[in-house]
Amino acid sequence: MFPLYKRRRMVQTQVVAGGMENDMSEQKDIYILAVESSCDETAASVVKNGRHVLSNVISSQIELHKLYGGVVPEIASRKHIEKINQVIEEALEQAEVTLEDLDAIGVTYGPGLVGALLVGVAEAKAISYARKLPLVGVHHIEGHISANYIENPDLEPPFICLVVSGGHTHLVRVRDYGDYEILGRTRDDAAGEAFDKVARAIGLGYPGGPKIDKLSKEGNPEAISFPRAKIADSPYDFSFSGVKSAVLNYLNSCQMKGQAVNRADVAASFQKAVCDVLVEHAMLAMEACGGDKLAIAGGVASNSTLREAFAKACKERGVRFYHPSPVLCTDNAAMIGAAAYYEYQKGVRHGWDLNAVPNLKLGER
Ligand code: KG4
Ligand code: ZN
Repeated sequence: MFPLYKRRRMVQTQVVAGGMENDMSEQKDIYILAVESSCDETAASVVKNGRHVLSNVISSQIELHKLYGGVVPEIASRKHIEKINQVIEEALEQAEVTLEDLDAIGVTYGPGLVGALLVGVAEAKAISYARKLPLVGVHHIEGHISANYIENPDLEPPFICLVVSGGHTHLVRVRDYGDYEILGRTRDDAAGEAFDKVARAIGLGYPGGPKIDKLSKEGNPEAISFPRAKIADSPYDFSFSGVKSAVLNYLNSCQMKGQAVNRADVAASFQKAVCDVLVEHAMLAMEACGGDKLAIAGGVASNSTLREAFAKACKERGVRFYHPSPVLCTDNAAMIGAAAYYEYQKGVRHGWDLNAVPNLKLGER
């Protein structure tokens, strides 16, 4: 089932002082096959040395879940089972490697939907067992953060990273590879969840983030004043349930008064309210922690208004701003491969008893 032809590994050479060629073949390249199945994307990728993506295959279930207005866990698990072998096969083929060329298998083992995670974990364990390959379990948020390493060769810890996705809103200080301090998190809805709920309320369907992003371009972000929540004594925490309720209240009151709703204005004003808070809290953390590097990650990090707002705020403060391409912001396995590489280099190995942990905390092993 998996490709039979074998990749020939190149012996690397480097010109050293004096013009002599230095044989670098002992510095072996590390090839990791990474698997991600924590939510509604079945994904596999081959990543070389943590930052060089040889393949990044994503089978999205969005069309299926759209019918229900959100992810249905049972359907997600079943679809992962159907797709996982195909996706891995394609990732190996595109990367022109076989299982024999690999040094390790990386897999997301939490947080996420337990049934969905189990499919990836079971698959990774099976390959690891059959091929006697080291198994490296990866935290999904660590994966999102590590997506930034792929296209930014200069990015090294320490830095601050804002992770904003459908399930998470975390402000993280990346002290070193695999060493994280959570500075703040959402107290209720994740940012992406708020985007999805507001999109549904204004009739845009699932997933709402990209649709609000698009519609907002036709709207006035100052048209409606939506709240920007602050948490007393926790300057880096977030709360998005208030802004979501304010949008719902606004829509209800328009309906009761028989007023027409300008959906583009609602989308733009809501988006601005969320982006203002995200940027403000991240900049507060930058000021408090020092450093000159800020990264964003997760599905919401592909939001165009958020990227512009961060680019501007960072420029004003002389901070270097990093963000992955949109395809590396939403769930993918390349980011898991990047994270797995640094864990692998630190000596992290999981046993064949590795289980899916739906509420895995960042920094736990
Ligand atoms: O990272 P991700 O693929 O999955 C999780 O780990 O949760 O993020 C998905 C979330 C969804 O809530 C989706 O609406 C949001 O990211 N999203 C966006 C945009 N693209 C995706 N939100 C705002 N603007 C976007 N352009
Ligand atoms: Zn994610």
